Amino acid sequence: MRIVRRPADLRRLIRAAKQQGKQIGFVPTMGALHEGHLSLIRRARKETDLVVVSIFVNPIQFNRSSDLRSYPRTLGKDGRLAAAAGADLLFVPSARQIYPPGFQSFVEVTSLSRRWEGKLRPGHFRGVATVVAKLFNLVTPDAAYFGRKDAQQARIVRQMIRDLNFDIRLEVLPTVREPDGLAMSSRNRRLPTGARRAAAVLFQSLQEGRRLIECGHRRRNEILRRMRQVIRQARGVRIDYVAVVDPDTLEPLEVVRGKALLLLAVRVGKTRLIDCCEVR
Ligand code: PAJ
Repeated sequence: MRIVRRPADLRRLIRAAKQQGKQIGFVPTMGALHEGHLSLIRRARKETDLVVVSIFVNPIQFNRSSDLRSYPRTLGKDGRLAAAAGADLLFVPSARQIYPPGFQSFVEVTSLSRRWEGKLRPGHFRGVATVVAKLFNLVTPDAAYFGRKDAQQARIVRQMIRDLNFDIRLEVLPTVREPDGLAMSSRNRRLPTGARRAAAVLFQSLQEGRRLIECGHRRRNEILRRMRQVIRQARGVRIDYVAVVDPDTLEPLEVVRGKALLLLAVRVGKTRLIDCCEVR
């Protein structure tokens, strides 16, 4: 695996691979790699010829500077993990290379960014869409791999690909979880022991929501009430939102018919965690 820091070097290597007829697979990340990221890299390895992984802690998608500063950075270990999972190129640009002085162009996916994470983290999805568009332009992948855990992000990227005519196949892969159900996340390592144990209620709450729907409950209020009850069983967990939404529009569903997406975001101590699951 090669580590590439300069966009010009990346472009040269990609151009050479394309001339040999290679299909490019791309996994964008912010590093602190865990099994969730590695599952995306392994899938890209299976499906494409040149696997590019980017590690860039994107400053413009953080709305709190303390969160940006404390974001885990573990480049040495990330390199070993990415290589073992099948990455060929690790693209690690600096903030200055991505946002040179004078930078002033942004990408915004309007309606889909308004609710949920977008509402609680103003500007977050504008930052995500902008950096993903830039990375797509640099890497020019045939396929890009994203996690279902960040359901709103994946939906927004799908919309951006369609709206801006990116010729990229988007693969959205299942959430990888810890044995107690907690979705793997770079933020989990910030949880002290008690909070880590309490964080299992996110998954339990989603399971309860799924069970209710599968048993024939259709009304949103009943489903949300029971999901919130499960979360409140843990001490020190504050709810940002729990929602039952249409997986396509991300708008709240009054009554569940067909597919539904259960979304939740909580704070455990100072750490914010999100999770979701789709139910038919
Ligand atoms: P990051 O949080 O590092 O996540 C990178 C990718 O890994 C995302 O597509 C995310 O959905 C996926 N992922 C994270 N946890 C996962 C899990 N437990 N199971 C499966 N996939 C998981 O998301 C970002 O970075 C950034 O917003 C980014 C897209 C790189 C733009 O800066």
